[in-house]
Amino acid sequence: MTAPQGAARGAFGSRIGFILAAAGSAIGLGNIWRFPYMAGENGGGAFVLVYLLCVLGLGVPVMLAEFAVGRRAQKNPIGAYAALAPGSPWPVVGGLGVLTGFSILAFYSVVAGWTLDYLWKSATGVFTAGLSAADSAAVFTGLIADPGRAIGLTLVFLLLTIIIVRKGISAGVERASKILMPLFFLLLVVLAVRSVTLPGAGRGIDFLFQADFSRVTPRVVMGALGQALFSLSLGMGAMLTYASYLPRDENLPVAAVSVAFFDTMVALVGGVVVFPALFAAGVDPAGGPGLVFVVLPTIFDQLPGGTLFAVAFYALLAVAALTSTISLLEVVVSYFVDQRGWSREKAVWVMGAACFALAVPSALSNGAVEGLTELVTFGGKARSFLDLQDLVFGNYSLSIGALLLCLFVGWKWGTRNALDELRSGGAHELPLAGLWVACVRVLCPVAVVLVLVSIVLGD
Ligand code: TRP
Repeated sequence: MTAPQGAARGAFGSRIGFILAAAGSAIGLGNIWRFPYMAGENGGGAFVLVYLLCVLGLGVPVMLAEFAVGRRAQKNPIGAYAALAPGSPWPVVGGLGVLTGFSILAFYSVVAGWTLDYLWKSATGVFTAGLSAADSAAVFTGLIADPGRAIGLTLVFLLLTIIIVRKGISAGVERASKILMPLFFLLLVVLAVRSVTLPGAGRGIDFLFQADFSRVTPRVVMGALGQALFSLSLGMGAMLTYASYLPRDENLPVAAVSVAFFDTMVALVGGVVVFPALFAAGVDPAGGPGLVFVVLPTIFDQLPGGTLFAVAFYALLAVAALTSTISLLEVVVSYFVDQRGWSREKAVWVMGAACFALAVPSALSNGAVEGLTELVTFGGKARSFLDLQDLVFGNYSLSIGALLLCLFVGWKWGTRNALDELRSGGAHELPLAGLWVACVRVLCPVAVVLVLVSIVLGD
């Protein structure tokens, strides 16, 4: 079936609009919620170093590959593989991506719902007046174990996402990112300054930046690799889909490097906010997915005008999460619109509702329903349904998706075609083009396979 092209399909209105939307997709709970808890569980400094290597060596090359495929095909992930390799089984990889995006959205919106609750709590002054780490933990546990609240907030967040994606790419996505993302970064810097000046904060900086290489195990590398892909929104076709709305004069390499840079800065500053405060408050760094929610309120408590900062912070975090959930739903919707001929309206509501159904067990898996809370054990700890979704789709599925995308661009569609696409848009002199080709064809696939194999053998 032919998909509507160009303006009829929707397009970004301006150059900076695309970079902002892509950065908006990348910057989200992955930076502020997932990065600190992954770093905390995986030993700190060593994880951070491997993470940075993954962003540079795997993240940037894969992002370029997604951009090239998406802009050339002007299609959703499934349609893109079909357009560039007609009659081949490659669209299955796009299908895995759409499924992965759907599944990530289903647990991501639960965590995003928690940020809404924290926005409400900070506005009503719950986080001031001598909040200890134990008090803070109790507030968090109370929230996540409350089934009505957890499900209700997830629903509210999904509705917000639906309302924006419904309006289509240009009007909705671009406008949301423009002012709020820089503001968010500024606020993070303020919080980082407060955090590092807390008594006992130095240990947090040491934890984050002193690498102990004896702690680098296959599991740590897998975590870092998955986190790099998750944080940059790679491995399932979100960046591919965003690039499909681009005209050919956008400079893709500049966009990829900018997005990776901003995203990494936000994660690192986020780490500098969380870890010093964590050590100052005596919280366990390996505390898992609740980490940030427990630690951050203890900072606001020690900040003049804490309530105001807390309200601003959770409001902006919710917006950052929203620009990420938008990109996840957009991938799923673009598939049903391009390939199945659905109207955007129908796709948004049907898929939003389906996603909510899958989100319910995640929302109930943090204390509300016993069987879902301690579902499986990995890394020596009992994990919930939400944790399992996060591991399977947030780490493994993205890694496999990125691996297959590299193989597709490297060996099927061809790096010559891809470079052609990357050069159009002003990047005629592509520095390091040879290195990129080596990454996509050999280095990235080999690295991902090695990590996956060593995980399988290691267990
Ligand atoms: N990158 C986002 C974050 O860090 C989450 C996200 C949005 C995502 N779109 C994605 C993750 C696509 C993986 C794939 O919060």
